[in-house]
Amino acid sequence: MDYEIVVRNRRSVRSFQEKDVPDELLIKLVEHASLAPSPGNLQPWEFIIVKNRDLIEKIVSTTYSGNVKTSPPQTWIKSASAVIIVCYLSRPVSARYGEEGRVPGLLGIGAAIENLLLSAVNFGLGACWVSGFKSEELSKILNLPKGSEPISIIPVGYPKEIPDSPPKLPVDDIITLIK
Ligand SMILES: Cc1cc2nc3c(=O)[nH]c(=O)nc-3n(C[C@H](O)[C@H](O)[C@H](O)COP(=O)(O)O)c2cc1C
Repeated sequence: MDYEIVVRNRRSVRSFQEKDVPDELLIKLVEHASLAPSPGNLQPWEFIIVKNRDLIEKIVSTTYSGNVKTSPPQTWIKSASAVIIVCYLSRPVSARYGEEGRVPGLLGIGAAIENLLLSAVNFGLGACWVSGFKSEELSKILNLPKGSEPISIIPVGYPKEIPDSPPKLPVDDIITLIK
């Protein structure tokens, strides 16, 4: 698909068809995520693809709506064919850059997630970047080792509904062009 179309068609999709996304396609999304830039090319990430319905149910129970930890879980995630948990591996980054490396490391995670979201559009899939979850609870459920921190949950599926784009700021308002 033409890049202009891919980038313009990306939406946060929150409702999905009851249709399986083949494993090969999910793996392809992660492969594209892994091509993202990262500080020192350390690639401090890990991607856990979950299709098991019971485990997805437990993952959803760690989420909350809005920005309030006591708000109800984001139950719409259950309609996804799979969820991909993106984890930050802090050890290689702190070993090379100390605590200073955390922000660049997390920015690399963001780049990988955007690659994944754009790749999903290219395959006719929908996805959403979810960060409203209780990190410690999710770590426990996934049995994550120390040094692996869940940063985002990405529900993926064939979209049932593709929302209109929410308003974006006019480009002229966000650019300073210095010549
Ligand atoms: C870091 C981050 C965290 C987000 N967390 C959530 C979330 O927990 N739940 C959700 O429904 N959407 C979440 N979103 C999606 C935003 O709500 C969405 O990107 C924004 O409303 C703009 O819509 P668009 O993605 O369709 O352009 C998140 C987005 C980002 C970048």
